[in-house]
Amino acid sequence: MELVRETDADIWEVEALMDLCFAPGRTALSSYRLRDDVPPARDLCLLARGEAGEVAGAIRFWPVRIGGARDWDAMLLGPVAVHPTRQGEGLGAFLIQSGLDRAAVAGVDRVLLVGDAPYYRRFGFARLDGVEMPPPTNPDRVLGVWDWDGVAGEVCRAI
Ligand SMILES: CC(C)(COP(=O)(O)OP(=O)(O)OC[C@H]1O[C@@H](n2cnc3c(N)ncnc32)[C@H](O)[C@@H]1OP(=O)(O)O)[C@@H](O)C(=O)NCCC(=O)NCCS
Repeated sequence: MELVRETDADIWEVEALMDLCFAPGRTALSSYRLRDDVPPARDLCLLARGEAGEVAGAIRFWPVRIGGARDWDAMLLGPVAVHPTRQGEGLGAFLIQSGLDRAAVAGVDRVLLVGDAPYYRRFGFARLDGVEMPPPTNPDRVLGVWDWDGVAGEVCRAI
């Protein structure tokens, strides 16, 4: 399995994987409004190709801003997806950990996502109190890792 940085040439293959792995209408989710007209954090967007060159899994990250008493920068993890024929083999964990490692090296202070705590807590993610994703988002699914001390407010587009 080869892990590479996503390039412009990969975008439609990755989109096809996301369409396969998520419910129809995924781009209507409120978290997607944070990505509208904002370029992804390209250095952190990774994809895994199998032996035949097929995209087996992919992860993307977007910069966001937390607006409260002051502004904080954060990185929104997701979407992340693994092809249904490859799930349960550790590829999701490999993509997430590799993305987080790159984010740490890049100096990212905090990462958040909307997802299932039972899956993401293995990477250190925990529920974020006082950090509000655009509605409708279940607050129990708003999870963060690293430096969230004192950070609170609405999650907004980075630009
Ligand atoms: C979530 C996803 C990326 C995980 O990738 P993966 O390669 O299957 O994950 P891994 O092999 O690293 O880990 C598998 C383990 O995670 C568990 N797991 C997977 N999804 C889970 C979830 N939503 N909640 C709790 N546990 C979950 C599996 O049961 C398995 O447990 P085990 O190790 O005890 O057997 C993949 O299942 C996927 O693409 N799902 C559809 C898209 C999606 O939901 N993306 C995440 C949005 S938040």
